[in-house]
Amino acid sequence: GAPVEVDVSSLEPGQRITLEWRGSPVWVVRRSEEAIAALEEMSDRLRDPQSQVESQQPAYAQNVYRSVDPEFLVVVPICTHLGCIPSFRPEPGSMGADWNGGFFCPCHGSRFDLAGRVYAGVPAPTNLRVPPHRMAGENRIVIG
Ligand code: FES
Repeated sequence: GAPVEVDVSSLEPGQRITLEWRGSPVWVVRRSEEAIAALEEMSDRLRDPQSQVESQQPAYAQNVYRSVDPEFLVVVPICTHLGCIPSFRPEPGSMGADWNGGFFCPCHGSRFDLAGRVYAGVPAPTNLRVPPHRMAGENRIVIG
């Protein structure tokens, strides 16, 4: 499939855009400064905080943000357990007092942070998949 380009200039922190690439849904999330800072404190709660499972993201997204720009997450919202679509829960505290925002799969309770990194101790085996992407100027992202 051809690359897809998205304009993120109207996306506010905590919001998401849904698009489609190669037949899969893709979410583009703009993270707040607080959400970016929170990612750095999540490591001991996650199964693969450094994104070492290579199939789940391009090499340039093997970092704490899992993206080319810490402000923007580009992620395939398909749970890595059995393929349900997680719900988008960016609000801190919305899934419990220690919730920093992220994704919650209603099927069997898997939790992911706002970088799509899976929590330890849930059914999903790996982080959500991050597709190839790049910034094309300040407010445009190319997926694919
Ligand atoms: Fe998401 Fe099972 S499909 S937890």
